[in-house]
Amino acid sequence: MGRRGAGVFISFEGIDGSGKSTQARLLAEALGPDTVLTREPGGSAGAEEIRRLLVEGAPARWSPETEILLFTAARRDHLEKTIGPALAAGRIVITDRFADSTRVYQGAARAARRPLVDRLHALMIGIEPDLTFLIDMDPASALERGLARRSGEDRFEDLGLDFQKTLRAGFLALAQAQPARITVIDGARAAHVVANDILARYRAWCTA
Ligand code: ADP
Ligand code: TYD
Repeated sequence: MGRRGAGVFISFEGIDGSGKSTQARLLAEALGPDTVLTREPGGSAGAEEIRRLLVEGAPARWSPETEILLFTAARRDHLEKTIGPALAAGRIVITDRFADSTRVYQGAARAARRPLVDRLHALMIGIEPDLTFLIDMDPASALERGLARRSGEDRFEDLGLDFQKTLRAGFLALAQAQPARITVIDGARAAHVVANDILARYRAWCTA
């Protein structure tokens, strides 16, 4: 199982409030205690510090270039300290967001900076998940879910509904371009129904 020979690397992606965190947790619970559940930005001590710089404060706090560097720096630390060692030990790693988020949030939505995102990824990260679940849903409903739990981490969510629509389209375009890796999941269903769908697709992928 998995193309890397050791461990399986799974990411969850989608717009804010789509239910990624909920589904990442439910899959980790279903796959057992040896599974590593992690998130971005964050997932290691250093990357969690960088997360605070990224998600708090005014939307225009960083230039697009600085923001890409910060997300990439956080991902590099997450990879070195958490993801890499766990995969080398043969574990299943489930991350709530990974590089597709940067491709879409920084590369497609805020400015036409996708080439910079791709070059930095190739230079500093260089790996893709074995399997990505894109939790897709209508941005208006997702935004309602997100705003219901305001957390002080709203720098991106404050960017509004049009932004979320652009993000959704960006994620779906990635899924269309890489159908072998990215599975689109309808997130507008009860959490346990979505979770059962994801578990079934994971099991099918393992035996494929
Ligand atoms: P994300 O990580 O994509 O932002 P969360 O998993 O944190 O999303 O979910 C956002 C909010 O919506 C939370 O309050 C969560 O309890 C709720 N939620 C998650 N999944 C569902 C679902 N399938 N149906 C209804 N509410 C949900
Ligand atoms: P996250 O904690 O996943 O937020 P949510 O639970 O609301 O989906 O991520 C924080 C914000 O950071 C989120 O709005 C998406 C954004 N983000 C990027 O812009 N680029 C990235 O590379 C990553 C990983 C996240």
